[in-house]
Amino acid sequence: MSLPTRKIGNADVPYPGLGTMGMSAFYDGAGKTESNLTVLKAAYDSGCRFWDTADMYGNHHMGENEQLLAKAFKEGGVKREDIFLGTYSSSTTKFGNFRAPDGTRSIIGTPAYVASAIDKSLADLQVPFVDLYYQHRVDKNTPIEETVGAMQKLKEAGKIRHIGLSECSAETLRRASKVAKVDAVQWEYSLWETSIETNGVLEACKELGITLVAYSPLGRGMLTGKLKSRADLSPTDFRYHSPRFSEENFPKNLELVDKITAFAEKKGCTPAQLALAWVHAQWEGIIAIPGTTRLEGLKENIGSVGVELTDEELKEVRVLLDSFVVQGDRYPAAAMASLNV
Ligand SMILES: NC(=O)c1ccc[n+]([C@@H]2O[C@H](COP(=O)([O-])OP(=O)(O)OC[C@H]3O[C@@H](n4cnc5c(N)ncnc54)[C@H](OP(=O)(O)O)[C@@H]3O)[C@@H](O)[C@H]2O)c1
Repeated sequence: MSLPTRKIGNADVPYPGLGTMGMSAFYDGAGKTESNLTVLKAAYDSGCRFWDTADMYGNHHMGENEQLLAKAFKEGGVKREDIFLGTYSSSTTKFGNFRAPDGTRSIIGTPAYVASAIDKSLADLQVPFVDLYYQHRVDKNTPIEETVGAMQKLKEAGKIRHIGLSECSAETLRRASKVAKVDAVQWEYSLWETSIETNGVLEACKELGITLVAYSPLGRGMLTGKLKSRADLSPTDFRYHSPRFSEENFPKNLELVDKITAFAEKKGCTPAQLALAWVHAQWEGIIAIPGTTRLEGLKENIGSVGVELTDEELKEVRVLLDSFVVQGDRYPAAAMASLNV
């Protein structure tokens, strides 16, 4: 089976992609190795072959999620050469800080760190190169020119094929693009997170011919309509401590989800499919990477490519979004403060 493709650099990449973070970290249900391998193999068989990981994805240790993918390549019936593999270096030295209200993080983008981080990722993934290597978070203490210059060296050394940035500002992206060809930018983009439309990031991507990889396109599960209350999340789930899912904000944000659900019912698709079709309809340079740990979720998300939204429907959805103010930041305060905005 083959899925439609969009470009990253000169490569034709199938969409939607697959976010593998939740298989190893952050969300309830992470860590089920055997069923995760089943989902990865099913994704492979379905032609869903743009996989997104990061060195910091792991409830137990750095590299845990990358090692899961290595297992899929070695033992799970997945041919590495058929996968367009995106990974990113996080330099988050203390995993779990996202969960602590007063958590601190260290973000390092020095050339020396970049050089050592890729070697660890290649070892954990057990691959000779990665197709797309992102800086996960911009280091405010290291000029982006230095970080991207170091990434360009990795490209020249054959360790990576494409350069990406995640959660960068438009200005950072423009500066980086003067040093090396940036092929992809990863940013949160969904029916409840549209800030890239107004902060210059989407505009810069369009102008510079950079693919926008839309992360958390299902609003971390909220936009699927399956989460009915905060009680559906355990206190160890990242979302439990995330402002949009707080005691106060959850029920308010559910009002948007109800409207989206009603629209999806009218359209004859699921809310998750509407959410993904909407993201892909915003620009032909966008690839969404929904995350799922279930076969049903995978099938449903892949099915979104069959949902076509007319101009009239897109206008209706936009009116719906414009009439609603999403409550709460998308990250806890400490993480928000570390972002390059
Ligand atoms: N660059 C960054 O800073 C950054 C940040 C966050 C995420 N990411 C990347 O983006 C990927 C996706 O983001 P995300 O996982 O945070 O959020 P998401 O894709 O918006 O949502 C994932 C959540 O939705 C649920 N789900 C998925 N498909 C579903 C369906 N069809 N019906 C019902 N529920 C469904 C999943 O649960 P089930 O497992 O139960 O299906 C999971 O809890 C991650 O895996 C990661 O690779 C990058």
